[in-house]
Amino acid sequence: MSTQSSVADSELIAARDRIELLRAEILRHNHLYHALDSPEVSDAEYDDLFAELQQLEGAFPELASDDSPTQTVGAPPGRTFAVVEHRLRMLSLGNAFNAEELLAWRQRAADLLDREEWTYVSEPKIDGLAIALVYERGRLVQAATRGDGRAGEDVTANLRAIDAVPNELSGSPPPLFEVRGEVYMPKAGFDAMNAQIAAENEDRREAGRAALTLYANPRNAAAGSVRQKDASVTATRPLNIGIYQLGWCDDAVTPQTHWETLGWLAEFGFPTTPEAALHCGIDEALAACERWTQRRDGQAFEMDGVVIKVDDLGLQADLGVVGREPRWAIAWKFPPQEASTVVEQILVNVGRTGSINPYARLTPVRVGGVQVTNATLHNLDDIRRKDIREGDTVVIRRAGEVIPQVVRPVLERRPEDSPEWEMPSRCPGTTCGELGCTNEHCGGDRGVADICDGVWCGGDVSRLDDDADFYCGNPHCPAVVQRAIEHFAARGAMDIRGLGEKMIRLLLREGVIRDAAEIYTIPSRLEELARIPGLGQVKRRKGEDHYEIGDRLRNLALAIERSKSRGLSYLLVGLGIRHVGGENATLLADEFHSLDAILQAPHDALAAVDGVGPVIADSIVDWALDGEHWSLVHRLQAAGVEDEVESSDDEPPETPLEGMRFVLTGRFGAMTRPQAEARLKSLGAAVGSSVSKNTTALFAGEAAGSKRAKAESLGLPIWDEDRLVDALDNPSLIPTWLTEG
Ligand code: IVH
Repeated sequence: MSTQSSVADSELIAARDRIELLRAEILRHNHLYHALDSPEVSDAEYDDLFAELQQLEGAFPELASDDSPTQTVGAPPGRTFAVVEHRLRMLSLGNAFNAEELLAWRQRAADLLDREEWTYVSEPKIDGLAIALVYERGRLVQAATRGDGRAGEDVTANLRAIDAVPNELSGSPPPLFEVRGEVYMPKAGFDAMNAQIAAENEDRREAGRAALTLYANPRNAAAGSVRQKDASVTATRPLNIGIYQLGWCDDAVTPQTHWETLGWLAEFGFPTTPEAALHCGIDEALAACERWTQRRDGQAFEMDGVVIKVDDLGLQADLGVVGREPRWAIAWKFPPQEASTVVEQILVNVGRTGSINPYARLTPVRVGGVQVTNATLHNLDDIRRKDIREGDTVVIRRAGEVIPQVVRPVLERRPEDSPEWEMPSRCPGTTCGELGCTNEHCGGDRGVADICDGVWCGGDVSRLDDDADFYCGNPHCPAVVQRAIEHFAARGAMDIRGLGEKMIRLLLREGVIRDAAEIYTIPSRLEELARIPGLGQVKRRKGEDHYEIGDRLRNLALAIERSKSRGLSYLLVGLGIRHVGGENATLLADEFHSLDAILQAPHDALAAVDGVGPVIADSIVDWALDGEHWSLVHRLQAAGVEDEVESSDDEPPETPLEGMRFVLTGRFGAMTRPQAEARLKSLGAAVGSSVSKNTTALFAGEAAGSKRAKAESLGLPIWDEDRLVDALDNPSLIPTWLTEG
């Protein structure tokens, strides 16, 4: 054997060992992350392992294997979804709750169109999530969620994993087009999946492990399943899809009516919305809505209404869109669903602002397909007005929203001598959080009396003059502090993974942190914190306990460090200033550029920001009057939390490709054509569908056809995928390429 080949052999053996190790590790991390919800490594570390495996498999093709995690359904399970800009905005629908509103909608359309009669299509409004699917040459190349309507998340791999979604079309579909539909989980599949989770929870409970959360309804289950980071998990979920619209379509003759479009799409193999029907006039459409209302529960899927659409696509175009809603369609919403059950107890929880919020603990009951155990009672006035007491049989209503309402008591069934409910005079806020606690100071149903070591608030509860709510008067109420930190760490704010309700409770109880700013002391105290049960890892060696930092703490520290650069608008949301949410925080950040500038701005300057107004301005000014709030801000700043908008963000986005016009053709491996188009457009370029002498250059992927030939005949620059990737990374290269000749 030559020396050379033995070197190669030993390399191969080393590569094989490493590949096996990486595969096993990645599969273990997938399971920890997806099935157990308890990752051990950060996203970046995971991505590194994945990239290393991909690289090794590429370098040693003989070691490739079908069951490698790099080969599991669709694209590699990255942990974040790429953003996809919708070429055509995804809209929502206006609602009609009764015949009058439906007829008023028709009348507005009739006035605009200056005609009285036309046909309609009715379709069930399936309760799932909207998805846009792009097909190129009959193959699914991109799937995106609706997101905010302009841009959604790239869930291509996940949609490819759903059997009901055709990956390859039949017949002769147009070369490039987009369809839209609703991904949903049929009721039977939903029940079976939750039953399976419940059974798994039994095992977990016995093993002393945390329970997995059941899905609240089929819609959440569908959304959760589509947004899985690992498409192979999506593949196991009982999902279906109903296609309800042609989004956009290049280079093809398309039908003139919605009804024909549904038939046309079905010919290519799309499962279109079940039970769509064509109606001659609005009376027929209304009758269909009323029939659906009678049999809403009899369907295999959850539906929250009926969509009525103007059939003629020309009329649809004439009617157009107002805001986010088309004038050519409307959702007939079902009346809310009701059920009766018993109020076992009236409890309160303490909100982030210190408000004391009563709610009813109910004997579990199913309403509209969902198991309901709690219902909000809003405030004391509401409880008195409706006269709701503990022990009452009540009617509850669920109208699509997550928290059901108590409508009224059934007085004939009220137990004798039942007293009116009274608001507690002392705040039940506590740092204990054990379920089943009987300590009256623990909120009644949390913690266990003799083990409850929570700090009880006990602050005076009183009502502010013109406010329906009661508030805890203790500025250091442990429940308020807990909620404030939860809010700070939440996804819509600083997004600190691993810092959820339970972890915060533990950190507060152990005195590790007292407010949000102290979160940032954690990364430099890991050795010390490792000794706290539940935080570090205990290893028993030679009969002695050794405390190690462990992955949990290490990941928490990483997430905390990462949150420092989350950005001004998220930080502003995290502070929990009343009425300041994501949208107005962004407006404020764009206008003032720094936290100090916002908190020091005069009332009128804040109120003058379009979309902010006097109420939010009041609340910011009030917040900034409190010295403790400034102490928090200063400590966050001292910890290095980013509190300014980078100056580059102040300037309008750069559009270095302004004035250039590109055409894309063929297949690209690194991205789909719509993705590449969106990126080029965001850099200021125009992207056309046909090559002409005005085209700056043609980007030609694999199997480029006639457009390439045309570009050649016109002597235009033709660039390959590598150039496309380079151009998107570094657009300033393009002028150099253009002068290359
Ligand atoms: S048509 C112009 N048809 O309802 C909007 N939507 O509230 C086009 N939906 O985002 C929507 N079933 O997610 C349409 N048969 C159906 C539908 C349907 C469910 C959802 C869809 C849309 C939302 C609007």
